[in-house]
Amino acid sequence: MKVLFGCLLVVVGTLLHTNAVVISEEEQMALEISGVMLPPKKLTKTIGEHLRAIRKFYPQMERIQHRPKWIPGELLLAADASAVQKLNSSRYGPVKTAEKVTGEEDSSSTFHVIFDKPYHPARLVERVQSELAIQEVEGNLIFGDGNDITYHPTAPTYATYTFKMGWGDCSSGCIYKHFWEFSVAPSEETVTVKLEKEYGSDLNNREFVKP
Ligand SMILES: *[C@@H]1O[C@H](CO)[C@@H](O)[C@H](O)[C@H]1NC(C)=O
Repeated sequence: MKVLFGCLLVVVGTLLHTNAVVISEEEQMALEISGVMLPPKKLTKTIGEHLRAIRKFYPQMERIQHRPKWIPGELLLAADASAVQKLNSSRYGPVKTAEKVTGEEDSSSTFHVIFDKPYHPARLVERVQSELAIQEVEGNLIFGDGNDITYHPTAPTYATYTFKMGWGDCSSGCIYKHFWEFSVAPSEETVTVKLEKEYGSDLNNREFVKP
């Protein structure tokens, strides 16, 4: 459970909606890592190539996916309907849907706003605050823990990826975690993948995971 802006507006968990903008795993990773407004094409392509190479050589990694930190292109907004219209007609619009999640009919409410582009929420929040003077706004964050992939660029042509398998009460941070760390080095025609390290909880403990 989270409290938005420390006031009366309470949102429970991540808001999920069928109108969400769907992006690929590599786009989400590139967006999170770059911290720019929209998924950068070159980094998206590089990460996609790296992940495919890792999973080709280590097919057991196919069941581990990157865990998004937030849903792109979505905001939670504590304001009235005129602020939604302002967003819709701004250069960040159009707004696909704006659903009221809490609040009285005639006072300020919380809106779950979905844009038609996969904006980085932190960048969008900054711009909405400075350009549109809408202050009480934040991203649609994803809580909990679980399997994940993190990317660490170490040089322009060399990168490290950590695959994490998490299990056991992951909603409050997994009790068990097992890690595989891969280095990826593209050469002329192929990508060289090396398992550098494997560590963490014993994978045999997974039988204790409750369904
Ligand atoms: C955004 O504006 C368009 C064009 O005026 C309109 O059709 C659409 O319903 C608006 N969206 C919302 C969520 O108000």
